Amino acid sequence: MKQRTLTIIKPDAVKQGVTGEIITHFEKAGFRIAGARLIHLSKCEAQGFYAVHRERPFFESLTTFMSSGPCMPIVLEGEDVITKLRALMGATDPAKAEAGTIRNKLATSVERNIVHGSDSPESAATEIRYFFSDLEMV
Ligand code: CMP
Repeated sequence: MKQRTLTIIKPDAVKQGVTGEIITHFEKAGFRIAGARLIHLSKCEAQGFYAVHRERPFFESLTTFMSSGPCMPIVLEGEDVITKLRALMGATDPAKAEAGTIRNKLATSVERNIVHGSDSPESAATEIRYFFSDLEMV
């Protein structure tokens, strides 16, 4: 089934200069880029995006990190792209991510884990809408 999902190339990746490398992973996996932006989230915008995690002990630190520099939200489209993207990224904790995954190769910690990917069709719809209007997607 053709789907869309939201990925974010996080501030640690933009700072390290690996955005191109990550986009190459997406393209080699056959995902189509349906929308892309480069933005510097405010703390408040990062808190809004991660609102489901607001009770978690890492919420404060995570939202400080996500507002520490520019990031790149991207809408990816493809067959079963939600599950496929999560497999391509690897486990949330890079120490547990399989060899060859994006997080295994590039991420440094469970918080600074280089990329985000929506975890379900419902969160994909909400997260895409957080960053993109219909006019900003093709
Ligand atoms: P992401 O896929 O963007 O979704 C929630 C984020 O919270 C996750 O990636 C990590 O960046 C962060 N996160 C999840 N678990 C932890 C944790 N135990 N400690 C710190 N950050 C975490």
